Amino acid sequence: MTADQGWDQRYCGEDYLFGTEPAAFLVREAGRFEAGQRVLCVADGEGRNSAWLASRGLVVDACDPSPVAVGKAERLARERGVDIGFAVAGVDDYAWPLASVDGVVAVFVQFAPPEQRRVMFRRMRDALVPGGTLLLHGYRVEQLEYGTGGPPIASHLYTEDQLRAELDGLEIESVREYDAVVREGTGHVGMSALIDVVATRTVGPEI
Ligand SMILES: C[S@@+](CC[C@H](N)C(=O)[O-])C[C@H]1O[C@@H](n2cnc3c(N)ncnc32)[C@H](O)[C@@H]1O
Repeated sequence: MTADQGWDQRYCGEDYLFGTEPAAFLVREAGRFEAGQRVLCVADGEGRNSAWLASRGLVVDACDPSPVAVGKAERLARERGVDIGFAVAGVDDYAWPLASVDGVVAVFVQFAPPEQRRVMFRRMRDALVPGGTLLLHGYRVEQLEYGTGGPPIASHLYTEDQLRAELDGLEIESVREYDAVVREGTGHVGMSALIDVVATRTVGPEI
């Protein structure tokens, strides 16, 4: 079974695994985007974040390798009356835009081991227009003790130092480490060790 088939199995229920409401971090930070701006949601799952952003008037593209998840995301978008450019694609095969999106939203993208994560971060950076913003939200390594969501693999989890080192070419505007109770469907439930990063692209596209 491939990792993607594993996600298909997790998403095959009628319910939305992580619910249909956006991540609280996204709600806190999305005010920095204006209606009409273009945003890419990476590893968007069942579409809770992309549908909410599109309902705010943003132009939204989204990718996820699970066809089951994208099917449910399309359904959510229809129910909300919004259009989203969905792609069934993982970060290694997605046709990444270059220097053309105002925002990249990466919420719980911790499927990626370190080498894949570094490439993914570079692609996120390169997708942004200069001045564009990356919103990154995930679990810190301390989440291993809570076990309330996310992969139980330390190398997939974040520390502030590691993110500062890996997000090169981005100016870190804020990093917030905190513990909070998360209730997102049945997939993320309970006290959680979280980290939020807001970062801005400062350099031109890589040639
Ligand atoms: C914890 S879920 C988060 C989904 C969504 N961002 C949310 O917050 O509801 C992680 C997502 O990563 C996706 N994923 C797994 N492998 C991936 C890959 N190689 N590239 C992109 N996404 C991947 C899964 O299909 C799953 O939807």
